[in-house]
Amino acid sequence: MKRENFGSRFGVLMAMVGSAVGLGNMWRFPYMVSEHGGAAFILVYILCVFCLCMPIFFAEFIVGRRSQSNAFGAFQKLAPGTGWKWVGLFAVVAPLTILSYYSVIGGWSIQYLFKACTFGFTERITQEYLDTMFAGFISSTWAPLLGHTLFLLTTALILVGGVKGGIERFGKVMMPLLYLLVLSIAVWTATLPGASEGFTFLFKPDLSKIDASVCAAALGQSFFSLSLGYGTMLTYASYVSKKENIATSSTTIAVSDLIFSLIASCAIMPAVFAFGLNTQGGPGLVFETLPYIFSKMPLGGLVAILFFLALLVAALTSAISLYEVGVAYLVEEKNMSRKKAVAIIFSVAWPIGVICSLSFGPLSDMKILGNIFFDFLDKLSANYLMTLGSLLIVIFVGWKMKRQDVFDEFTNGGTLTGNARLFRLVWPVLRFVAPLAILIIFISNLL
Ligand code: PFF
Repeated sequence: MKRENFGSRFGVLMAMVGSAVGLGNMWRFPYMVSEHGGAAFILVYILCVFCLCMPIFFAEFIVGRRSQSNAFGAFQKLAPGTGWKWVGLFAVVAPLTILSYYSVIGGWSIQYLFKACTFGFTERITQEYLDTMFAGFISSTWAPLLGHTLFLLTTALILVGGVKGGIERFGKVMMPLLYLLVLSIAVWTATLPGASEGFTFLFKPDLSKIDASVCAAALGQSFFSLSLGYGTMLTYASYVSKKENIATSSTTIAVSDLIFSLIASCAIMPAVFAFGLNTQGGPGLVFETLPYIFSKMPLGGLVAILFFLALLVAALTSAISLYEVGVAYLVEEKNMSRKKAVAIIFSVAWPIGVICSLSFGPLSDMKILGNIFFDFLDKLSANYLMTLGSLLIVIFVGWKMKRQDVFDEFTNGGTLTGNARLFRLVWPVLRFVAPLAILIIFISNLL
């Protein structure tokens, strides 16, 4: 069977940026920044992206493109008859953990988009009112469940369209739009009197705030944001043409993702300061604080609609990538039709998402290691499974694959001389620095 490929260079890039840019940038990053000391967190985060995530990104890219296979098939092809296929299976199953709870927040975005369209957030509402509304909404039973179901169904429908028709067409139009929209909100926020304090919070680091928990949170966030360790970038890379330059593509994606997170924070934090709101926003930051900001903006009603639409689109393009890992596996390894594969993944992710959604309300007493089910899955994925997945992938590339094969893939058979020079630095990082650093962080997370 001939594998479907992306139609254009821009299309693949947008699909990968689409996987990276998502709720992680607009919902998770701003509240992580506000909870972990502002600029200090951002500084550690940037170091994590460039020093640790880039080599992992290269590793996923190399495995995916070299094998031209789904996450499971990739390890079987590159290391036939070895236990590495279990790593492949891990990379296929693990994304389902994120997909399930991601879909719940995606569903919140749908509901807030609906609220923005009908209610408008334009009246003189108070912050308390919005807080109570959010708490009441997420702890209710049906409205969030409906959102979750709609979100997962939409993702499924796009995936039935396949790589070129569905994923590529969607990402190409939506990702540039998203950047423009969030950028315009950030520009408006910058004009608010009192916004400068927010910029100081974001960009003037207080180094004394950096501790082990800030480092662990920044690293978890960087894996989450760049979709690493879960076979998603590996799967997308398997559709990338052999002519692409792995180093420049990965760097473009990582930098776009970083810039997007920074723009999203610039859209939110300065306004939080200008209006004297609570900087410890927590996971509700986007859903409680932003509507308040919109209510004070000129044309705020319209901006609110556009923002929640953007949030939804960002969430969809990431969910698509999480979903595609399992679909590619079922289609290629189990010879299933795309439709059937999409239906099977739906039937696994939907019920898990239902438990996540109910864990804010009816099931809030059900705790796993002291966390409600939703938080448990979030921590399990970002702090443990993604770290473990990344560790295994770098070990695979650094120790199992032949140096010559890795070199060939990274330099397109030696034709990219710049990459050949870079490889001298990348190789020892892949073999020694990255595995050691990830291992240390993984163990410190366990303690
Ligand atoms: N990177 C996505 C975000 O920032 O929202 C989330 C994500 C997508 C994580 C795909 C992991 C993944 F495999």
